[in-house]
Amino acid sequence: MPLDDLRIRTPDDWHLHLRDGDALRAVVGATARQFRRALVMPNLRPPVTTVAAGEAYLKRIREAATMAGHPEFEPYLTLYLTDNTTAEEVRRAAQHPHILGFKLYPAGATTNSDSGVTDLLGKCGAALAEMERTGLVLNLHGEVTHAEVDVFDREARFIDDQLLPLRARYPALRIVFEHITTREAAQYVQAEAGEHRRIAASITPQHLLYNRNRIFQGGIRPHDYCLPVLKREPHREALVAAVKGGSPWFFLGTDSAPHAQSTKEASCGCAGCYSSPVAMELYAMALAQADCLPQLEAFASENGARFYGLPLNEGQVVLRAEAQTIPKSLPYLPNDPIVPLAAGETLGWRFERG
Ligand code: DOR
Ligand code: ZN
Repeated sequence: MPLDDLRIRTPDDWHLHLRDGDALRAVVGATARQFRRALVMPNLRPPVTTVAAGEAYLKRIREAATMAGHPEFEPYLTLYLTDNTTAEEVRRAAQHPHILGFKLYPAGATTNSDSGVTDLLGKCGAALAEMERTGLVLNLHGEVTHAEVDVFDREARFIDDQLLPLRARYPALRIVFEHITTREAAQYVQAEAGEHRRIAASITPQHLLYNRNRIFQGGIRPHDYCLPVLKREPHREALVAAVKGGSPWFFLGTDSAPHAQSTKEASCGCAGCYSSPVAMELYAMALAQADCLPQLEAFASENGARFYGLPLNEGQVVLRAEAQTIPKSLPYLPNDPIVPLAAGETLGWRFERG
């Protein structure tokens, strides 16, 4: 193996959107080619709020992965937390081997979040207490949604307004702060995890690689728009430092969120970056730039599984240090392709299975 190639344990993606139907069939293979397992987020229409609906969705994902040539792919789910989630549903979920948590979408925060939670502490008490008791994880989309809060401040405000009171009321609740984008979030997770070991965070490739200038480079770039939105450079640097520091509380979650080209390149374009086809290459690039490529294995293949109490994968994958140009678009829906993250750019890495 050439010196610069990297061989690591097979990775997992702990934050993923796969959609359903034709879209699911179009994208699942890209994830299953790189990752052995993925934690799939449930913001379908209607959202997946019950164990019964979750089981049916898991079955559709497994079938689609098998059709894409990856019967070995193992999907996990979070269920969608609503104001009406019952303690009984939480109990059922906690007994299901492939349901790992409930996902909090503050109402109105992002794609298909209109059934989301309107008042976490006021309305979800019974569900949260049962999650705390059973050890089921609360996966947080950590942004406040009030119109008067600046879009770039919504994550930091969430920590003060919601996360601190949540933690005070449920000290043993296991939390994953999803797709963190700010220095404040990285510091909060690092400090709290050091003490209580009940919180961790997922980080996307785009938030490690880019700052918010990228969205406006030479014109508006809809394919770089996601939520939480890219932030200033010092925030990106704080996320990179968190990974580089080797803390076990930070792990890979792409938040790959497919939207058809027509719905991204529109007067009101959807939020989400489709990173699955080259996810591991993008992470390798981010860590190589930060001179911490040796951290990739723990970040991508160990920290997340350990936090969720799952065994580590057995096989290996290779990242070859060779140039690869990302396609400008890929097939998605009939007559409506999809533009992947970093489309048309040349990366210095190529993913290969073991
Ligand atoms: O950019 C995003 N896209 N952020 C989310 O929270 C949801 C996701 C989606 O499902 O499209
Ligand atoms: Zn997401």
